Amino acid sequence: MKKDIIILGIESSCDDTSAAVLRNGVLLSNVTAGQAVHEAYGGVVPELASRAHQQNIVPVVDTALKRAGVSREELSAVAFTRGPGLMGSLLVGVSFAKGFARALNIPLIDVNHLSAHVLAHFIQEPAEEIPVPKYPYLCLLVSGGNSQIIRVNSYKDMEILGQTIDDAAGEAIDKCSKVMGLGYPGGPIIDRLARQGNPTAYSFAKPQISGYDYSFSGLKTSFLYSLRQWIAENPHFIEENKEDLAASLEKTVVDILMHKLEKAVKDTGITEVAVAGGVSANTGLRNAFKEYAARHGWNIYIPKFGYTTDNAAMIAITGHFKYLDGDFCNIDLPAYSRVTLS
Ligand code: KG4
Repeated sequence: MKKDIIILGIESSCDDTSAAVLRNGVLLSNVTAGQAVHEAYGGVVPELASRAHQQNIVPVVDTALKRAGVSREELSAVAFTRGPGLMGSLLVGVSFAKGFARALNIPLIDVNHLSAHVLAHFIQEPAEEIPVPKYPYLCLLVSGGNSQIIRVNSYKDMEILGQTIDDAAGEAIDKCSKVMGLGYPGGPIIDRLARQGNPTAYSFAKPQISGYDYSFSGLKTSFLYSLRQWIAENPHFIEENKEDLAASLEKTVVDILMHKLEKAVKDTGITEVAVAGGVSANTGLRNAFKEYAARHGWNIYIPKFGYTTDNAAMIAITGHFKYLDGDFCNIDLPAYSRVTLS
Protein backbone atom coordinates (compact mmCIF):
# COMPACT_ATOMS: atom_id res chain seq x y z
CA MET A 1 0.00 0.00 0.00
CA LYS A 2 1.25 3.53 -0.86
CA LYS A 3 2.28 5.53 2.18
CA ASP A 4 0.26 8.66 2.97
CA ILE A 5 2.05 11.97 2.48
CA ILE A 6 1.48 14.02 5.61
CA ILE A 7 2.89 17.55 5.58
CA LEU A 8 3.12 19.95 8.50
CA GLY A 9 3.09 23.55 7.20
CA ILE A 10 4.39 26.48 9.24
CA GLU A 11 3.80 30.17 8.48
CA SER A 12 5.25 33.10 10.45
CA SER A 13 6.13 35.76 7.87
CA CYS A 14 4.24 38.69 9.40
CA ASP A 15 1.82 38.82 12.34
CA ASP A 16 0.01 35.47 12.08
CA THR A 17 1.47 32.30 13.58
CA SER A 18 -0.06 29.41 11.70
CA ALA A 19 0.36 25.64 11.45
CA ALA A 20 -1.53 23.23 9.20
CA VAL A 21 -1.56 19.51 8.53
CA LEU A 22 -2.35 18.03 5.11
CA ARG A 23 -2.78 14.35 4.27
CA ASN A 24 -2.32 13.63 0.55
CA GLY A 25 -3.26 17.25 -0.27
CA VAL A 26 -6.40 17.21 1.92
CA LEU A 27 -6.49 19.65 4.81
CA LEU A 28 -6.80 18.07 8.25
CA SER A 29 -6.20 21.19 10.33
CA ASN A 30 -5.25 24.85 9.92
CA VAL A 31 -4.66 26.75 13.15
CA THR A 32 -3.79 30.45 13.24
CA ALA A 33 -3.01 32.73 16.19
CA GLY A 34 -3.37 36.41 15.30
CA GLN A 35 -1.63 39.23 17.19
CA ALA A 36 -3.99 41.86 18.56
CA VAL A 37 -1.01 43.67 20.13
CA HIS A 38 -0.45 45.66 16.90
CA GLU A 39 -3.91 47.26 16.85
CA ALA A 40 -2.82 50.00 19.26
CA TYR A 41 -0.02 51.03 16.86
CA GLY A 42 -1.98 51.13 13.59
CA GLY A 43 0.43 48.70 11.95
CA VAL A 44 2.62 45.66 12.60
CA VAL A 45 5.51 46.34 15.00
CA PRO A 46 8.25 43.87 13.93
CA GLU A 47 9.81 43.30 17.35
CA LEU A 48 6.42 42.68 18.98
CA ALA A 49 5.49 40.34 16.13
CA SER A 50 8.54 38.13 16.57
CA ARG A 51 8.03 37.95 20.34
CA ALA A 52 4.40 36.93 19.86
CA HIS A 53 5.45 34.26 17.33
CA GLN A 54 7.77 32.80 19.96
CA GLN A 55 4.92 32.55 22.44
CA ASN A 56 2.49 31.13 19.87
CA ILE A 57 4.47 28.69 17.76
CA VAL A 58 4.56 25.69 20.12
CA PRO A 59 0.85 25.76 21.12
CA VAL A 60 -0.21 26.45 17.52
CA VAL A 61 1.73 23.46 16.14
CA ASP A 62 0.56 21.27 19.01
CA THR A 63 -3.10 22.21 18.38
CA ALA A 64 -2.75 21.66 14.61
CA LEU A 65 -1.41 18.14 15.16
CA LYS A 66 -4.08 17.32 17.76
CA ARG A 67 -6.93 18.63 15.57
CA ALA A 68 -5.59 16.63 12.63
CA GLY A 69 -5.38 13.49 14.77
CA VAL A 70 -1.83 13.01 13.55
CA SER A 71 1.20 12.15 15.68
CA ARG A 72 4.61 13.73 15.09
CA GLU A 73 5.99 10.36 14.04
CA GLU A 74 3.49 10.09 11.19
CA LEU A 75 4.69 13.32 9.51
CA SER A 76 6.41 12.96 6.12
CA ALA A 77 7.99 16.44 6.04
CA VAL A 78 7.91 19.94 7.50
CA ALA A 79 7.26 22.84 5.08
CA PHE A 80 7.96 26.39 6.25
CA THR A 81 7.76 29.94 4.93
CA ARG A 82 11.29 30.97 4.09
CA GLY A 83 10.30 34.47 2.93
CA PRO A 84 9.57 37.16 2.00
CA GLY A 85 8.46 38.73 5.25
CA LEU A 86 9.68 40.35 8.44
CA MET A 87 13.04 38.81 9.32
CA GLY A 88 12.38 38.55 13.07
CA SER A 89 9.03 36.86 12.41
CA LEU A 90 10.39 34.49 9.76
CA LEU A 91 13.25 33.38 11.99
CA VAL A 92 10.86 31.98 14.59
CA GLY A 93 9.05 29.72 12.10
CA VAL A 94 12.22 28.82 10.19
CA SER A 95 14.13 27.87 13.34
CA PHE A 96 11.20 25.92 14.73
CA ALA A 97 10.73 24.01 11.45
CA LYS A 98 14.42 23.15 11.25
CA GLY A 99 14.56 21.88 14.83
CA PHE A 100 11.32 19.90 14.46
CA ALA A 101 12.36 18.24 11.18
CA ARG A 102 15.83 17.44 12.52
CA ALA A 103 14.42 15.90 15.71
CA LEU A 104 12.07 13.70 13.67
CA ASN A 105 14.69 13.04 10.99
CA ILE A 106 12.29 13.98 8.17
CA PRO A 107 12.76 16.25 5.13
CA LEU A 108 12.53 20.02 5.36
CA ILE A 109 10.85 22.01 2.56
CA ASP A 110 11.31 25.76 2.06
CA VAL A 111 8.31 27.65 0.66
CA ASN A 112 8.08 31.06 -0.96
CA HIS A 113 5.20 32.87 0.74
CA LEU A 114 3.99 34.53 -2.47
CA SER A 115 3.96 31.28 -4.49
CA ALA A 116 2.01 29.73 -1.62
CA HIS A 117 -0.73 32.41 -1.86
CA VAL A 118 -1.02 31.63 -5.58
CA LEU A 119 -1.26 27.88 -4.90
CA ALA A 120 -3.87 28.19 -2.12
CA HIS A 121 -6.47 27.20 -4.74
CA PHE A 122 -5.20 23.63 -4.66
CA ILE A 123 -6.01 23.00 -0.98
CA GLN A 124 -8.61 20.25 -0.80
CA GLU A 125 -11.17 19.86 2.01
CA PRO A 126 -12.20 16.47 3.43
CA ALA A 127 -15.93 16.88 2.79
CA GLU A 128 -16.00 18.49 -0.68
CA GLU A 129 -13.99 18.43 -3.88
CA ILE A 130 -12.74 21.94 -4.64
CA PRO A 131 -12.36 22.75 -8.37
CA VAL A 132 -8.73 23.67 -9.07
CA PRO A 133 -7.34 25.94 -11.80
CA LYS A 134 -5.86 24.35 -14.90
CA TYR A 135 -2.36 25.43 -15.97
CA PRO A 136 -1.63 27.93 -17.29
CA TYR A 137 -3.78 30.29 -15.24
CA LEU A 138 -3.57 33.97 -14.37
CA CYS A 139 -3.56 34.95 -10.72
CA LEU A 140 -4.21 38.40 -9.34
CA LEU A 141 -2.18 38.43 -6.12
CA VAL A 142 -3.33 41.31 -3.95
CA SER A 143 -2.18 41.81 -0.38
CA GLY A 144 -0.80 44.42 1.97
CA GLY A 145 2.60 44.15 0.30
CA ASN A 146 1.90 43.00 -3.26
CA SER A 147 -0.30 43.68 -6.27
CA GLN A 148 0.74 41.43 -9.10
CA ILE A 149 -0.66 39.71 -12.17
CA ILE A 150 1.05 36.34 -12.41
CA ARG A 151 1.01 33.78 -15.18
CA VAL A 152 1.15 30.40 -13.43
CA ASN A 153 2.55 27.76 -15.79
CA SER A 154 3.03 25.11 -13.10
CA TYR A 155 3.39 25.05 -9.34
CA LYS A 156 7.08 25.94 -9.73
CA ASP A 157 6.96 28.12 -12.85
CA MET A 158 5.38 31.50 -12.25
CA GLU A 159 5.93 34.61 -14.33
CA ILE A 160 5.10 38.11 -13.11
CA LEU A 161 3.34 39.94 -15.96
CA GLY A 162 2.76 43.13 -14.00
CA GLN A 163 3.13 44.50 -10.50
CA THR A 164 2.78 47.67 -8.51
CA ILE A 165 5.44 50.28 -9.07
CA ASP A 166 4.74 51.88 -5.68
CA ASP A 167 2.11 50.96 -3.05
CA ALA A 168 0.19 47.70 -2.97
CA ALA A 169 -3.62 47.71 -3.15
CA GLY A 170 -4.04 46.61 0.49
CA GLU A 171 -1.51 49.17 1.67
CA ALA A 172 -3.41 51.95 -0.13
CA ILE A 173 -6.73 50.86 1.39
CA ASP A 174 -5.15 50.63 4.85
CA LYS A 175 -3.60 54.10 4.55
CA CYS A 176 -6.82 55.73 3.32
CA SER A 177 -8.66 54.08 6.18
CA LYS A 178 -6.08 55.44 8.62
CA VAL A 179 -6.55 58.96 7.20
CA MET A 180 -10.28 58.54 7.89
CA GLY A 181 -9.46 57.66 11.51
CA LEU A 182 -10.77 54.10 11.19
CA GLY A 183 -9.10 51.09 12.85
CA TYR A 184 -6.34 48.75 11.68
CA PRO A 185 -6.20 46.88 9.40
CA GLY A 186 -8.43 49.10 7.29
CA GLY A 187 -9.34 46.55 4.58
CA PRO A 188 -12.09 44.68 6.45
CA ILE A 189 -13.48 47.95 7.91
CA ILE A 190 -13.65 49.62 4.48
CA ASP A 191 -15.31 46.46 3.14
CA ARG A 192 -17.98 46.52 5.88
CA LEU A 193 -18.72 50.24 5.46
CA ALA A 194 -18.72 50.00 1.66
CA ARG A 195 -21.68 47.62 1.75
CA GLN A 196 -23.87 50.49 3.02
CA GLY A 197 -22.43 53.22 0.76
CA ASN A 198 -22.79 54.57 -2.77
CA PRO A 199 -19.77 53.53 -4.87
CA THR A 200 -20.25 56.38 -7.34
CA ALA A 201 -20.60 59.15 -4.72
CA TYR A 202 -16.99 60.32 -5.15
CA SER A 203 -14.27 59.77 -7.71
CA PHE A 204 -10.55 59.56 -7.08
CA ALA A 205 -7.49 59.57 -9.36
CA LYS A 206 -6.80 56.45 -11.39
CA PRO A 207 -3.28 55.78 -12.69
CA GLN A 208 -2.49 56.03 -16.38
CA ILE A 209 0.42 53.67 -16.83
CA SER A 210 1.02 51.31 -19.69
CA GLY A 211 1.33 47.51 -19.62
CA TYR A 212 0.13 45.39 -16.72
CA ASP A 213 1.78 47.35 -13.92
CA TYR A 214 -0.19 48.96 -11.13
CA SER A 215 0.22 52.16 -9.15
CA PHE A 216 -1.74 53.13 -6.04
CA SER A 217 0.21 56.07 -4.62
CA GLY A 218 -1.71 58.61 -6.75
CA LEU A 219 -5.03 57.28 -5.47
CA LYS A 220 -3.79 57.61 -1.89
CA THR A 221 -2.74 61.24 -2.45
CA SER A 222 -5.95 62.07 -4.29
CA PHE A 223 -7.99 60.57 -1.42
CA LEU A 224 -6.03 62.55 1.18
CA TYR A 225 -6.24 65.90 -0.65
CA SER A 226 -9.95 65.52 -1.43
CA LEU A 227 -10.65 64.64 2.19
CA ARG A 228 -8.72 67.67 3.48
CA GLN A 229 -10.75 69.95 1.25
CA TRP A 230 -14.09 68.41 2.26
CA ILE A 231 -13.17 68.56 5.97
CA ALA A 232 -12.22 72.24 5.60
CA GLU A 233 -15.76 72.86 4.35
CA ASN A 234 -17.44 70.55 6.88
CA PRO A 235 -15.54 69.26 9.97
CA HIS A 236 -18.03 66.38 10.31
CA PHE A 237 -17.57 65.27 6.71
CA ILE A 238 -15.99 61.89 7.42
CA GLU A 239 -18.50 60.88 10.09
CA GLU A 240 -21.43 61.91 7.88
CA ASN A 241 -20.11 60.25 4.69
CA LYS A 242 -17.89 57.35 5.74
CA GLU A 243 -20.01 54.70 4.00
CA ASP A 244 -19.96 56.55 0.65
CA LEU A 245 -16.23 57.29 1.03
CA ALA A 246 -15.50 53.61 1.71
CA ALA A 247 -17.68 52.42 -1.17
CA SER A 248 -16.09 54.92 -3.61
CA LEU A 249 -12.57 54.04 -2.47
CA GLU A 250 -13.27 50.32 -2.80
CA LYS A 251 -14.77 50.77 -6.27
CA THR A 252 -11.74 52.77 -7.45
CA VAL A 253 -9.30 50.09 -6.22
CA VAL A 254 -11.38 47.27 -7.74
CA ASP A 255 -11.70 49.11 -11.09
CA ILE A 256 -7.92 49.64 -11.24
CA LEU A 257 -7.22 45.97 -10.42
CA MET A 258 -9.80 44.54 -12.84
CA HIS A 259 -8.90 46.85 -15.74
CA LYS A 260 -5.32 45.52 -15.96
CA LEU A 261 -6.38 41.95 -15.29
CA GLU A 262 -8.91 42.12 -18.13
CA LYS A 263 -6.16 43.38 -20.43
CA ALA A 264 -3.89 40.47 -19.41
CA VAL A 265 -6.68 37.96 -20.07
CA LYS A 266 -7.34 39.46 -23.51
CA ASP A 267 -3.66 39.56 -24.49
CA THR A 268 -2.75 36.07 -23.26
CA GLY A 269 -6.04 34.37 -24.16
CA ILE A 270 -5.93 32.62 -20.76
CA THR A 271 -9.40 32.51 -19.26
CA GLU A 272 -8.56 30.51 -16.11
CA VAL A 273 -8.37 33.39 -13.64
CA ALA A 274 -7.70 33.27 -9.92
CA VAL A 275 -7.39 35.84 -7.16
CA ALA A 276 -5.32 35.43 -4.00
CA GLY A 277 -3.92 37.34 -1.01
CA GLY A 278 -5.51 39.32 1.81
CA VAL A 279 -7.40 41.76 -0.42
CA SER A 280 -9.11 38.83 -2.18
CA ALA A 281 -11.36 38.73 0.93
CA ASN A 282 -12.87 41.99 -0.31
CA THR A 283 -16.56 41.72 -1.21
CA GLY A 284 -16.38 44.27 -4.05
CA LEU A 285 -13.43 42.47 -5.65
CA ARG A 286 -15.08 39.05 -5.28
CA ASN A 287 -18.28 40.42 -6.87
CA ALA A 288 -16.28 41.99 -9.72
CA PHE A 289 -14.67 38.60 -10.41
CA LYS A 290 -18.11 36.99 -10.64
CA GLU A 291 -19.37 39.75 -12.98
CA TYR A 292 -16.34 39.43 -15.28
CA ALA A 293 -16.72 35.64 -15.30
CA ALA A 294 -20.36 35.93 -16.35
CA ARG A 295 -19.65 38.64 -18.94
CA HIS A 296 -16.43 37.29 -20.48
CA GLY A 297 -16.65 33.53 -19.88
CA TRP A 298 -13.73 33.37 -17.44
CA ASN A 299 -13.35 30.32 -15.19
CA ILE A 300 -12.71 31.98 -11.86
CA TYR A 301 -11.13 30.72 -8.64
CA ILE A 302 -11.83 32.69 -5.49
CA PRO A 303 -10.26 31.36 -2.28
CA LYS A 304 -12.25 30.56 0.84
CA PHE A 305 -11.92 33.37 3.39
CA GLY A 306 -9.57 31.31 5.57
CA TYR A 307 -7.07 31.06 2.70
CA THR A 308 -7.06 34.73 1.69
CA THR A 309 -4.93 36.09 4.53
CA ASP A 310 -1.74 34.45 5.76
CA ASN A 311 -2.26 30.79 6.67
CA ALA A 312 -0.20 27.62 6.90
CA ALA A 313 -2.55 25.52 4.75
CA MET A 314 -1.15 27.24 1.65
CA ILE A 315 2.40 26.57 2.87
CA ALA A 316 1.54 22.91 3.41
CA ILE A 317 0.01 22.46 -0.08
CA THR A 318 3.08 24.01 -1.69
CA GLY A 319 5.18 21.70 0.48
CA HIS A 320 3.08 18.77 -0.73
CA PHE A 321 3.90 19.54 -4.39
CA LYS A 322 7.58 19.96 -3.62
CA TYR A 323 7.55 16.69 -1.63
CA LEU A 324 6.20 14.83 -4.66
CA ASP A 325 9.19 16.18 -6.64
CA GLY A 326 11.65 15.35 -3.85
CA ASP A 327 12.52 19.06 -3.68
CA PHE A 328 13.89 19.33 -0.13
CA CYS A 329 16.21 21.90 1.42
CA ASN A 330 19.20 21.80 3.71
CA ILE A 331 19.07 22.74 7.36
CA ASP A 332 21.52 25.62 6.84
CA LEU A 333 19.19 27.48 4.45
CA PRO A 334 18.69 31.06 5.70
CA ALA A 335 15.39 32.97 5.78
CA TYR A 336 15.02 35.84 3.31
CA SER A 337 13.12 39.04 3.92
CA ARG A 338 12.90 40.38 0.37
CA VAL A 339 12.37 38.25 -2.68
CA THR A 340 9.75 37.89 -5.37
CA LEU A 341 8.32 34.64 -6.72
CA SER A 342 10.45 31.53 -7.08
O1 KG4 B 1 -2.06 38.77 2.40
P1 KG4 B 1 -2.23 39.55 3.67
O2 KG4 B 1 -2.94 38.88 4.79
O3 KG4 B 1 -0.88 40.01 4.30
C1 KG4 B 1 0.21 40.53 3.68
O4 KG4 B 1 0.12 41.57 3.01
O5 KG4 B 1 1.24 39.87 3.89
O6 KG4 B 1 -2.97 40.90 3.27
C2 KG4 B 1 -3.27 41.88 4.22
C3 KG4 B 1 -4.03 42.98 3.50
C4 KG4 B 1 -4.24 44.21 4.39
O7 KG4 B 1 -3.90 45.35 3.64
C5 KG4 B 1 -5.74 44.16 4.69
O8 KG4 B 1 -6.31 45.42 4.93
C6 KG4 B 1 -6.27 43.55 3.42
O9 KG4 B 1 -5.33 42.52 3.11
N1 KG4 B 1 -7.62 42.99 3.59
C7 KG4 B 1 -8.70 43.48 2.94
C8 KG4 B 1 -9.81 42.72 3.40
N2 KG4 B 1 -9.35 41.80 4.30
C9 KG4 B 1 -7.99 41.98 4.40
N3 KG4 B 1 -8.81 44.46 2.04
C10 KG4 B 1 -10.04 44.73 1.58
N4 KG4 B 1 -11.16 44.06 1.97
C11 KG4 B 1 -11.09 43.06 2.87
N5 KG4 B 1 -12.19 42.40 3.24
